[in-house]
Amino acid sequence: MATPPLTSRCGPRTTGGSRDAGRPAHGRARDIWCPGADSLQDVSTRDTDWEGVRLHVVTGKGGAGKTTVAGALALALASGGKRVLLMEVEGRQGIAQVFDCPPLPYEERKIAVAPDSDTQPGGDVFALVADPESALLEYLEMFYNLRHAGKALTRLGVMDFATTIAPGLRDVLLTGKAVEAVRRKKGGKRIYDAVVMDAPPTGRIGRYLNVSNEVAGVARVGPIRNHADTVQRVIHSPETAVHFVSTLEEMPVQEVLDGVAELRGLPEGGIQVGGIMINMVRPAELPPAELRRAAAGSVDEHELALGLKAAGLDDSLRLAADLAAELTEHAVAVVGQEVQRRRLAEPGQPCYQLPMIPDGMDLGGLYRLAAALRDQGAA
Ligand SMILES: Nc1ncnc2c1ncn2[C@@H]1O[C@H](COP(=O)(O)OP(=O)(O)OP(=O)(O)O)[C@@H](O)[C@H]1O
Ligand SMILES: [Mg+2]
Repeated sequence: MATPPLTSRCGPRTTGGSRDAGRPAHGRARDIWCPGADSLQDVSTRDTDWEGVRLHVVTGKGGAGKTTVAGALALALASGGKRVLLMEVEGRQGIAQVFDCPPLPYEERKIAVAPDSDTQPGGDVFALVADPESALLEYLEMFYNLRHAGKALTRLGVMDFATTIAPGLRDVLLTGKAVEAVRRKKGGKRIYDAVVMDAPPTGRIGRYLNVSNEVAGVARVGPIRNHADTVQRVIHSPETAVHFVSTLEEMPVQEVLDGVAELRGLPEGGIQVGGIMINMVRPAELPPAELRRAAAGSVDEHELALGLKAAGLDDSLRLAADLAAELTEHAVAVVGQEVQRRRLAEPGQPCYQLPMIPDGMDLGGLYRLAAALRDQGAA
């Protein structure tokens, strides 16, 4: 399948380097994937923009592509023989849809393999659909050896009671599960190289991640308090980054800007803002100068009609008028997108571009998005 380039420039990827050294120019979308380059196979071991980050939280406006991009990021992070856990917290079975597999239980399950390269083996993506109740039962067992009592408590509605008096408890149970997976070790070695969380939308992300105050109300001391403190410490550390997914439209872009400001303004030094994943980017059909002319409504209908006539098309005048209107509409949309792209650059974070997959998303499309993320240094 031929893939149209998203930009006219096609060059080697700017090496991201570690988070502090050799970082790409923030806010500028770098040279991005081009036809023939959309393969994980060409990529060799190198630093990425988010070296050292183990918990990747993916947020954005509803429908912007959070679940899809979280899935692609998990695949991208898994290439090179890594193990990545992709976690869903809203209980909507979005991951199963994106990976085209049956509904997933509360259990870590392998759902995809990143392709091998000549030098590196492919890695594994595991998925977990986490719900607060199952997470609570797990904690009760882990901290108090209380699994059976926990089940009875659930039947009695204690879970509902607890989360009514401390709404943040639900959230800390979920973020806590992600942090537990990040820190889990076997034989002294971490089980997962990275955890990717398909998180709630931007409007709720600050509160969702900043849970320690909520928990302080119900657990001042003891293992749950200690656990909440650990969760909070990891979330506020450089091990965690919150990536924002946006399309090039006003509302999703505004949500990104508000979300970034909110995370940066949180107590304890805020929470690290990650990359801005610009999703569903459509290629521009015209070179920039012509685009600007067309957006200003100055498409030469007469010239168009002559061209159409020369091509042997009947009714060339009416056709030219329709075509000119369509061109102007396309150009206005593309120019509008540029305005949104500049707004997304304002926070100064790395921006990555993900193409609109024509004819709808499927597994092949997901691997293409993963390759685009790798090529641009996001993973
Ligand atoms: N790059 C893309 N190209 C084409 N279609 C896409 C792309 N990214 C996402 N989509 C489609 O857009 C729709 C929304 O994507 P997705 O479910 O990932 O968004 P979301 O932000 O998780 O939504 P929600 O807020 O409902 O959880 C889906 O139908 C998905 O297949
Ligand atoms: Mg979703």
